[in-house]
Formats: sequence, structure tokens, C-alpha cells
Amino acid sequence: MNIDLRLCAGNPAREAIAGPLQAADREAALSEPLHVLLVEDTDDDAALITRTIRSAGFAPILERVETREQFVAALRAGSWQVVVCDHSLPQFSSIEALVCLQDQRLDLPFIVVSGSISEESAVSILRAGAHDFVTKQSLGRLGPAIRRELRDAKVRAERRQAQHDLRVQRDFFRLVLDTTPNLIFVKDAWGRFTLANRAVAMLFGTSEDALIGRTPRDLGVQPADAEDMRAAERRVLDTRRPHLSPRQHVGALAGGAPRWFDMRLVPLMLPDAGEQVLVIGTDVTEQRQTEEALRSTEEQFRQAQKMEAIGQLAGGVAHDFNNLLTAILGYSALLRDVIHEPDHLADLTEIQKAGERARSLTSQLLAFSRKQVLEPQVLDLNRVVGDAERMLSRVIGDHIQLETALEPHLLTVRADVGQMHQVLMNLAVNARDAMRRGGTLRVATGNATMPSDTAADDGPAPAVTLSVSDTGCGMTEEVRQRIFEPFFTTKAPGQGTGLGLAMVFGVVTQTGGHIDVMTAPGHGTTFTIYLPAVSEPATASVAPEAPPVLEGCETVLLVEDEPAIRELVRKVLSGYGYTVLDAADGLHAIDLAAAYPAPIHLLLSDIVMPRIGGPELAQRIVARHPEMRVLYMSGYATGLGMPFGNLSPTVTLLHKPFTPASLVRKVRECLDR
Ligand SMILES: Nc1ncnc2c1ncn2[C@@H]1O[C@H](COP(=O)(O)OP(=O)(O)OP(=O)(O)O)[C@@H](O)[C@H]1O
Ligand SMILES: [Mg+2]
Repeated sequence: MNIDLRLCAGNPAREAIAGPLQAADREAALSEPLHVLLVEDTDDDAALITRTIRSAGFAPILERVETREQFVAALRAGSWQVVVCDHSLPQFSSIEALVCLQDQRLDLPFIVVSGSISEESAVSILRAGAHDFVTKQSLGRLGPAIRRELRDAKVRAERRQAQHDLRVQRDFFRLVLDTTPNLIFVKDAWGRFTLANRAVAMLFGTSEDALIGRTPRDLGVQPADAEDMRAAERRVLDTRRPHLSPRQHVGALAGGAPRWFDMRLVPLMLPDAGEQVLVIGTDVTEQRQTEEALRSTEEQFRQAQKMEAIGQLAGGVAHDFNNLLTAILGYSALLRDVIHEPDHLADLTEIQKAGERARSLTSQLLAFSRKQVLEPQVLDLNRVVGDAERMLSRVIGDHIQLETALEPHLLTVRADVGQMHQVLMNLAVNARDAMRRGGTLRVATGNATMPSDTAADDGPAPAVTLSVSDTGCGMTEEVRQRIFEPFFTTKAPGQGTGLGLAMVFGVVTQTGGHIDVMTAPGHGTTFTIYLPAVSEPATASVAPEAPPVLEGCETVLLVEDEPAIRELVRKVLSGYGYTVLDAADGLHAIDLAAAYPAPIHLLLSDIVMPRIGGPELAQRIVARHPEMRVLYMSGYATGLGMPFGNLSPTVTLLHKPFTPASLVRKVRECLDR
């Protein structure tokens, strides 16, 4: 039995096989240690093989086995450098040993030694995987064969290690590729994907493998976007230099929204793969949206500043015009009573028509500059729309259909009913002009919240929306940006003054609201007005009916710094029977009032005057004449000291420019209250 025969340095059993100890030891000290697993049943052969190995310059550390079990156990237990195997043993064979070795997945040099073997057997054992075959007659080949096989095994082990390292690197590379949010892909000279990571596959809604060999066009990218990418790739292939393609647009893909990428392109020269381009794309969609939002906020701010500046200019001009128009219209009205000659009357009518037209322009300008006096009341906008419906359908004509969609549980708002009618009217006229060949005008109301940029700190404020939509020509972005500017019009000369939307904008902003426009060329337009909702019930939506013009015998203290208007008012009121005390300024008025022995029933005063303004004058005079009523004349809210120029219900106001009829009506109304 040779089962436990271990031939190690210092092992006494070694001598039995390996001959004189001391000579062998000296030799071993100089030789290369070699772990040999020897499959051999005869002691003599084992000793011969051992000697041969040693004489080849190795110091064998050797274990000898004879059966399959011993062989398998030894393979598992030790770490061997070479297996030397007798070709045929009583209970085992070299072929079986080779199979065991392969089962263990061990790549050890396996060298068969045999006394006599047919050429056929030798070939079949080599085919089965043995590394060499040495006959006992030429045992001298064993040493060189071992040396050669050790070298080959080392090369194979290094190759295996290199393959393993490569696999590890490849796995790591794949992991990095698949977990990065960036797009990483390689494309060949024809623009086809040759590699793509998961982010690319997700963008296209497919698998990485499905991308290979296909171009972005094949995968649904819009031609223009795909051509942009190709141009950048060609440039990199031509110049062989890296290139940054910023903000590359990739239209909606795989049900997603459009996205933007900063694409970094690098030329890639891989052996056997031709010239390729490596692309790394960083998704900058959010960044771009933030930049756009910032740009649009800046643009809005610039626009608001511009509107404010125009508003101030327009308001100033309109204020002065009001005085002139009051005189023009007033004196024309007085002339109408004394002129009877038809030709002259016709001329006068023209003067009055022009004056009326000028009045409507100035009132729109004032509305735009948010300087008109509003008389707000709590309104149900459904009623306002209902009241305006007949007027609207008359304005738009038969070729346009009017539709209304009114929210049944609409909240109320605080607004000037007359102005809201005018807003509806201006929007409807524009809609009509945009639908020359017919269409539908839709007026809708709804409950909503104020848009976020006007929201209060404690969350979005409730709002009422009034929207006016048409199915007309729509607007380009350039037009849309300018529509609220006064005098901006795209209409032919004489067709539009460009004040309609300026007025709408002014009224809405002065009422504390907000206006939005949605439009696109050929797709109609929707204006949506948001007004802050209030919690009070609506008062009657229609302004009280004007009383019939009445004469009066009361005394009126008239204070107006503009002589033409002062004279006009004096003339008109005297004509209706009133006693008029007139003063050019507040101080003069105070003196007059103090000296007047009888009661003064009404103070009729301008608001903005040099030295003492209307409100201060009223305060000082009414203190001494508590029975006195106050009626202001103005086209301009500044000076009343009220937000948005909203008038307190205890004060009556006469808008400039006014006609003699409206002056007398207002005076009577004020005295009778
Ligand atoms: N519903 C709409 N559809 C298409 N374009 C519109 C619409 N509303 C307004 N616009 C455009 O806005 C411009 C300005 O409108 P705005 O009402 O201020 O002035 P206008 O209609 O030209 O003149 P005005 O109203 O003073 O008679 C119009 O000339 C038109 O180009
Ligand atoms: Mg208009």
C-alpha cells in the first residue's frame, strides 16, 4: 500500500523511493520546488519518476496515489503544479484520472507515463486533454515536458486572470453605464448606435440591445433634431476633435415630454471598429426651464415697467384733454339750444360727434393708465354677462355664434359694472374682427383661484374668472406680447386705435385682477380675466336709472381752476335756475362761503387744483355748512387718496368730460339724495 506515502523534504518515507538522503537534500536545496501528484502503483516506477524529476532540476514535493478516491481526495486537499500519471493501473487509468481532473475544473499539466502503449491509445489520451505522453524508455523527456507544461500552464493562468479582470472591469463599466442618469452612447460613421446605456434605452422606450445598429431617425426622433445630431457627429468625425453641442433638443419620445441635452462628443478610434463617436449627454431640461422662467419673469417685469411709463404719459395727456373736451362738448350743447339754421346745426353735430369720439378715446386712455375713477359694487358676473348678451350679439353679427357657459354657483366680485360691460364689449369686438368668416364667440364664467404670481402669502386667493374665446385667426407670439400697449394695433388705419385691450388691461388691473391670453396663429384666442372673489352678496348689477333733468333754485358754490369749464358750468347751472357762486381756487371759495349770508346747498368742486385740493376744501367748508352736499368733478382719481381710485359711497363724482345734461342730472341727484 502506498496511499500515505508522502515524499516531502525530511519525510523518512521519501528515502524508500528517492535514494540516498543527503545527496538529494543538497540537490533539492538548489532546485526549484515542484508539487507533484503522482498516480503510480509500483514503487520502482515511482522512485524512477521521482529521480527523473529531481535530475531535471526540481525538488519534488510529491504525493503518490493509486485509486480514483485517493486521486480525487488529493486533488481536493493539495495545491499541485503537475500530475504525472501511469497509463494503466490495476484499479484506475490515465483516461479516468484525466476526467476526474477535468471534473474538478483544474487546469494542471497532466503528463502520462507508460511502459508500453499503442500509438492509438497515445493519440486518444492526448485528444482527451493530456498535455504530454512520455514512455518509460524515453523518461529523460519528462523533465523538459514538465518545464514546458508549467510554462504553458502559467500562460494559461495569466490569460484566465486577464479574462477575469476584463470581466470585472466590464461589469463595473456596465454598472456605471446603467446607473448614470447621463446618456452615454457610441455611434458609427453612419450614425448607428454601436453601444448605448440604459438612460438612452429609457429615453427611446426600448432595450439597449434594440438600439444597436439603428439610427435616432429609425427610433422616432424628429428629422430636424436628428439632423442636428448628425451634423455635430460629422463635425467630430471630420475634425477628430471633441465638440460640445449645447441644448440639443430631443422632441417627445416614448410618450415623454420634449427634453434638452448638453451633448459632449468625442472621437473614438477603436481598432477594427472604424471611426466612431462617443457621446455623453447631460439632461438640462429642468435647468433650461428655470432659465426660461427667469427670462420670462424679467420680460414681464420689463413689460410692466414699460406699461407703467406709457400709462403715466397717457394718463397725463388724458387729464388735460378732459378739460378741453368738457369745454368743447359743453359749449356745443349750449349752442344747440340757440342755433336753428340746419347747415350750422349739421356742422355742430360733426363737432359733437368728434368730441364724443375724443371722449371715448380719453376715457380708454384713462382706463389704461388706471387713473379713472371706478364705482365698484358687489357684482354677479353672470348677471353682467346676461345683461350684455343682447348687445354682444348685435355687435358680433349673424355670422358669429354666441355661446355662454355660466357657472351656476359663481362667487361675487367687487367691480365697476359699466367698466365690466366695456371690457366685454372690447373683447367681443376684437373677437369679431378675428373671425371675419364666422365662428363662435364663447363667454364663460367660473370659480378659480388667483394665478400664483398674484397670490397672497396665505395661499391662493379665491377668484372669479371671465373668459372670452374665439375661433378666429389667433395671434403670433410677437403680436401677443404687445397687445396691451396703448395704440398697438394690427388693423388698417381707421379700423382700430389699439386702445381696446389697453382699456381692458387697465380696468382689470385697477380692479385688483389679472388677465391671461392663450393664442396661436390659426387656433383662436382665449382671454381669461381673474378678479378677486368677495364674500358679500351681489347688489343690483345695473346702475340706478338717471332721474329726469330737473331745474333747481338752490345755491351752488362752484370751484374750478380751468376758466373755460368754470364758465361753462356756471352758464349751464344758471340756465337751469341755480344761483352759482364761482371761485377759481379753494382759498377764494372759503372767503366767498364765509361772506355769503344765505345757505349754500352744494359744493361743486374740481379735485385737483393748485393750493387747496377738492377734498381738503370740502373738509374745511362743510365743517361750517353741515347742510352742504359735495359733488366733485374729475377725470382723474389721484387726489382722492383712495386705493385704485375707488370712490367712497358718501361722495358723488362727475366724470370729466361731461355734457351739460349729465352735469345737471348729477347736481339734481346729489341735492335730492
Ligand atoms: N381676439 C383676437 N384675435 C386676434 N387678434 C387679436 C384679438 N384681440 C386682439 N387682437 C390683436 O391685438 C391688437 C390690439 O387690440 P386692441 O383691442 O387693443 O386694439 P384694436 O382692436 O386694434 O383697436 P381698438 O380696439 O382700439 O379699436 C389687435 O389689433 C389685434 O392684432
Ligand atoms: Mg379692439
